[in-house]
Amino acid sequence: MDEEMAGVTKASFGKLRSGEPVDIYTLTNKNGLSAKIITYGATLTSVMAPDKSGKLGEVCLGFDNIAAYEFNGKPAQPYMGATVGRYANRIGKGRFTIGGKTYKLATNNPPNHLHGGESKALCWVNWKAQIVPRPDGPAVQFTYLSKDGDEGYPGNVNASVIFTLTEANTVKMEYAATTDKPCPINLTNHAYFNLKGSGTILDHELYIAGKSYTEGDDDLLPTGKILPVTDTPYDFFTQPAIIGDRINAAGGKEPAIGYDLNYVLLPGAKGYATVARVHDHNTGRLLEVRTDQPGIQFYTGNFLDGTLVGRGGWKYVQYSGFCLETQHFPDSPNQKSFPNTILQPGQTYRTKTEYAFLVK
Ligand code: BGC
Repeated sequence: MDEEMAGVTKASFGKLRSGEPVDIYTLTNKNGLSAKIITYGATLTSVMAPDKSGKLGEVCLGFDNIAAYEFNGKPAQPYMGATVGRYANRIGKGRFTIGGKTYKLATNNPPNHLHGGESKALCWVNWKAQIVPRPDGPAVQFTYLSKDGDEGYPGNVNASVIFTLTEANTVKMEYAATTDKPCPINLTNHAYFNLKGSGTILDHELYIAGKSYTEGDDDLLPTGKILPVTDTPYDFFTQPAIIGDRINAAGGKEPAIGYDLNYVLLPGAKGYATVARVHDHNTGRLLEVRTDQPGIQFYTGNFLDGTLVGRGGWKYVQYSGFCLETQHFPDSPNQKSFPNTILQPGQTYRTKTEYAFLVK
């Protein structure tokens, strides 16, 4: 079944330092849109989407070679397009306790744990891939067995994500996971988008269906409080607003000023709903985010500083892209009032997120 299916091609994306081959899958739908995903980190590296005149352009930040992606004692780049887990975002002090047993994780974002840890985090390992038939467009399924103890997490976890480029012009990600010991699971995609395909996203207009957010401390770890967005720079709900307008008041430590917060979507996203819209008035491109998750991290690439150069020579300066990472709330394993994220043996974790590439 592999190798051939309408709208899917597979090619080599080079080799890891270990010699292991990395493949790149290109999904193309009937409208000509394309999405590329590599097996390393089940990473979305490219999305070609139309502007209002129908012209296709790159809207996803990424690189054209594996060395630019590969973990090398530290991340080579800030999770661009990666499938992030076992636990996306932060776990306080890299610790959590289940059934009286405390587990210790890497504190790779001192003093906290970030995005699943180091070399065995799901974003830094090579997944298996298989082209799969889906009714709504070309699709590839990525699977990875994360072993008991990898990155300090308990249980053998079988994780999978199916990427479909639907005929309705959405990149759909359907995640699943099972475990043989209770373990926190929180999977997301960390794509940075720029709907102009150049410059910064400060002129993009944003709407987020979040009426409140989880308050963070100086290291962006939740304090446990959920605060209303009213009368803060985080209110993109009552009135869609230009991202750059209030960015200097959005928080962060110099020079990494900008948006980096988790919106609470409950009860809005119970079921499946559009939770964010980003519009670029220059090109007419409109991105809609749909999800079943209770939270979404809005991050404006505050830590990008121009040292990384992406595909086509594009220098990734601060605010070159935005991320809208659908997720459970950060540090849920340590916050009793947040929705549960512990997956039990016998259960299947499932979640779905779509990025729709539209024009207006
Ligand atoms: C986090 C940021 C972090 C970034 C890394 C985001 O999900 O919220 O704080 O710097 O990932 O790229």
